[in-house]
Amino acid sequence: MKEDIMNDANSEIQTWQISGNSPAAYERYLVPGFFKPWAETLTAYTSPTSGGEILDVACGTGIVARTVASTLKNGARVIGLDNNREMLNKASELSEKAGLEIDWQQGHADQLPYENDRFDYVFCQQGMQFFPEPQQVLKEMHRVLKPGGRLALNIMRSIRHNPAFKILSDELEKHVGENAGSMMRAPFPEWDQKKIRNMVEDAGFRDISLHLEIISMRFPSSEEFLRREAASSPLAGEMESLAGETRNKLIDHLHESLEPYQDDKGVVFPMETMMIIAEKQG
Ligand SMILES: C[S@@+](CC[C@H](N)C(=O)[O-])C[C@H]1O[C@@H](n2cnc3c(N)ncnc32)[C@H](O)[C@@H]1O
Repeated sequence: MKEDIMNDANSEIQTWQISGNSPAAYERYLVPGFFKPWAETLTAYTSPTSGGEILDVACGTGIVARTVASTLKNGARVIGLDNNREMLNKASELSEKAGLEIDWQQGHADQLPYENDRFDYVFCQQGMQFFPEPQQVLKEMHRVLKPGGRLALNIMRSIRHNPAFKILSDELEKHVGENAGSMMRAPFPEWDQKKIRNMVEDAGFRDISLHLEIISMRFPSSEEFLRREAASSPLAGEMESLAGETRNKLIDHLHESLEPYQDDKGVVFPMETMMIIAEKQG
């Protein structure tokens, strides 16, 4: 029984399932810093046109679907799919507030609930690394795209290229435990450019282009970096119940380890991602 609970917890962490207040924290702390600018870059790279159908896989709180829908205004049907009901509820609240018409649907990326050759564009921002079978998901994305339709992905580079998150994961592992370290490392798969290109090509896509994007992230302090990242992640509950002494030690050590990234305004560091655009041959 204990093992079952541990397995469930591990699976929630590896597939990045968040709950409670975390979708709101995710939207407040993480979306403006990097998910929104990356959604705008993906949209600019693909330039979707009105009149078609667009799918955002693993949409989370829906920043890509919302960005595309607000670019197109009228004349396109946008669907956001995620397996997490709480993320979808937040997405729906936000699109309603913005006056955007988007269908939010619950489902699994490895079995997309859509017919063949349906969509003009399929987007997936920072989702691929959490799927248990990413190659199967790419095949599904290929299947549901129309011939000539385009795929737009972005996937974080490995943790080696995101050094502040390596520091944060290492400190979490030391002070909170192995699960906490793996959760913070999970968004940064060990996939290089060649691996991603091969995965996309093996799923049947052609005309693949890949760009590296580097963004500068800033937080008012290393403590805020920890607080915001934890509150917006599957670690939220565990961090809230952390004993005061452990929490203080973690904050002190994190502050010391992030020393190379500190300035008079807090901490600032680069975050690197890969953007991939590809086409299903007509
Ligand atoms: C880091 S979030 C990215 C969300 C969103 N694309 C964005 O840009 O903010 C990862 C999302 O993948 C979703 N997810 C993980 N595994 C999934 C699966 N098998 N099928 C559908 N969604 C999944 C999670 O629920 C979460 O919302």
